[in-house]
Amino acid sequence: MRKTIIAGNWKMNKTNKETIIILTELKENVQKIDGTDKIGIIIGTPFTALSDAVKTTENSNIKIAAQNVYPKEAGAYTGEISPLMLKDIGVEYVILGHSERRDYFKESNSFINEKIKCVLSYEMSPIFCIGEQLEDRETGKTNEVITTQIKEGLSGISSEEAKNIIVAYEPVWAIGTGKTATPEIAEETHKEIRKVLKEMFGEVAEEMTVQYGGSMKPTNAKELLSQKNIDGGLIGGASLNAKDFSDIIKAAL
Ligand code: PGA
Repeated sequence: MRKTIIAGNWKMNKTNKETIIILTELKENVQKIDGTDKIGIIIGTPFTALSDAVKTTENSNIKIAAQNVYPKEAGAYTGEISPLMLKDIGVEYVILGHSERRDYFKESNSFINEKIKCVLSYEMSPIFCIGEQLEDRETGKTNEVITTQIKEGLSGISSEEAKNIIVAYEPVWAIGTGKTATPEIAEETHKEIRKVLKEMFGEVAEEMTVQYGGSMKPTNAKELLSQKNIDGGLIGGASLNAKDFSDIIKAAL
């Protein structure tokens, strides 16, 4: 059985104080919802709030993710954060390959691959984001684009390691735009993703969580999450308040 995982990506939002307030509320909400022990719940905060986010969510099944990492343990890399530093404060997941990092910071598939391997070596789990641009979809290149992202991003990774990777399919045209992929469009691409993962990792692909991301909200979550190959969500805007995020969690149960 694949695990359903609902993850929030706060991006560059929320101060430390705000983080504590929201996560305290979320923790209380989650405790009141039956069945949340069967799914994964993750929140990705900015670096500055990670330490308090971990402390605030102690004794709950909410886990904390970083939104980036530099793939070296330590050294002269001004402004960067290492996996050792994340591990040390209790971070368990790292969001990697997000389209905003690919677009604005020109992160390549090979650099993302380096980061994924590094995160795995520190026994944390990458949330590996992939997704096509609108132009790719309109010119029929979606499968080609995502296949390249998966093959290059996960190159050199063993089936055993792949078990610890969450894949997040986020069509770039659906991120922050209010335009969600229809459940059918999303499911079709998720099937293709599973096929590529199967080619690389065999039966392990059946156990891998593949999330959908891109304008997922309480009103559309249930339909998306009911698709066979959609095993959760990576949620931006709607993860910024505890109520909406809790409603998405309910939709996953
Ligand atoms: P969104 O962002 O839910 O605001 O569209 C999703 C993401 O970028 O992970």
